[in-house]
Amino acid sequence: MLNGKKIVLGITGSIAAYKAAFLCRLLIKKGAEVQVVITPAGKEFITPVTLSTLTNKPVVSAFFAANDGTWHSHVDMGLWADVMLIAPATAATIGKMANGIADNMLITTYLSMKAPVFVAPAMDLDMYAHPSTQANLEKLKSYGNHIIEPASGFLASSLEGKGRMEEPEAIVAYLETFFEKNQQLSKKKILITAGPTYEKLDPVRYISNYSSGKMGFALAEVCAERGAEVFLLSGPVQLQAKHQGIKRIDVESAVEMYQAATRLFPSMDAGILCAAVADYRPASFAEKKIKRNGEALHLELLPNPDIAASLGKMKTQAQVLVGFALETDNEMQNAKNKLQKKNLDFIVLNSLQDAGAGFKGDTNKISILTAQGEKVDFPLKSKKAVAEDIIDFILSHNE
Ligand code: PMT
Repeated sequence: MLNGKKIVLGITGSIAAYKAAFLCRLLIKKGAEVQVVITPAGKEFITPVTLSTLTNKPVVSAFFAANDGTWHSHVDMGLWADVMLIAPATAATIGKMANGIADNMLITTYLSMKAPVFVAPAMDLDMYAHPSTQANLEKLKSYGNHIIEPASGFLASSLEGKGRMEEPEAIVAYLETFFEKNQQLSKKKILITAGPTYEKLDPVRYISNYSSGKMGFALAEVCAERGAEVFLLSGPVQLQAKHQGIKRIDVESAVEMYQAATRLFPSMDAGILCAAVADYRPASFAEKKIKRNGEALHLELLPNPDIAASLGKMKTQAQVLVGFALETDNEMQNAKNKLQKKNLDFIVLNSLQDAGAGFKGDTNKISILTAQGEKVDFPLKSKKAVAEDIIDFILSHNE
């Protein structure tokens, strides 16, 4: 999996820097090409000579070569790499990465990086547990960086706890799994619906629901990270799709979403319908703002097209169709009915009875039901982790 991969290895000033030599050796043995970028503090712990000998490349540390003034291009390294791995990553470097403090070559390279970034923290247990370190790590995660959690054990401070950089073998295994997963959906086209729909009443009002789009966008991100070409059909949301493999198509109403979904689906390998589509729309649209006159206002609502059921009818043997069920009661039976009626292969059930599940938040708690009658429950997780579970589950049932 690592054969031929181009890896920028960032090394910072931690005692765990000695492990970077083993890491280099393992990566090179796997056939990777490694370019080391080291911070000034990193050089206090391991010499560039060791690293350049192991990688067969000059180690980059300063913006310019002291002897002849050659400029080291962090931008070129950002374009060259298939992945950037920062191991060990100190609290200081993590803080600079989180806040864009570009005062050394490693941070400028990080800020220029086009490839996925992996961070293996190494520090004392209290530094690691400190809210500021944890907040910085959360920031890095929100930028899409992957954190390779440190292990627990004896630390250089002679204290014991969580903060030891993960072992080189485990870091290499982590990268291998990443590249393996990265290709799982290559050449697949996946349609994902996300967010709410707005059903217009008059120029200032609409009927809608609380969907933020977070769950659908997380699914789009995970599918794209695994190599799929994603068509993200989104209702009005405040989110941005970051991955280049995502083609975003914005719609407003259920009818617009239906038209786009039925047009796209025939050329897709799979559809994942996460949008909270309004079931009804106002029968008429008032061209001017409806004025209050003190009387009750009666709205006539018409049923919207059921996108999931329509795609279920169009579905071929080769296509996979996944729906969601957002329930407040009688959850399992309602989800089973939707699975059957809409001719889905899988349905992801989330219930508003479960704290942290459903709309708006960053977490969800789901069960997945299959058309064959299997049911698997998952614990409360971040929406990104839930999306990973959903894709893993579908892949394991479609081998
Ligand atoms: O966006 P977030 O804030 O992150 O919240 C995520 C979520 C709660 C919206 C998401 O996890 C979810 O449950 N989405 C489906 C919500 C919903 O409308 O469920 P439903 O049970 O009403 O619909 C069943 C299925 O039919 C869904 O796949 C839905 O997309 C689809 N449907 C529904 C109506 C319709 N007219 N067309 C459809 O395709």
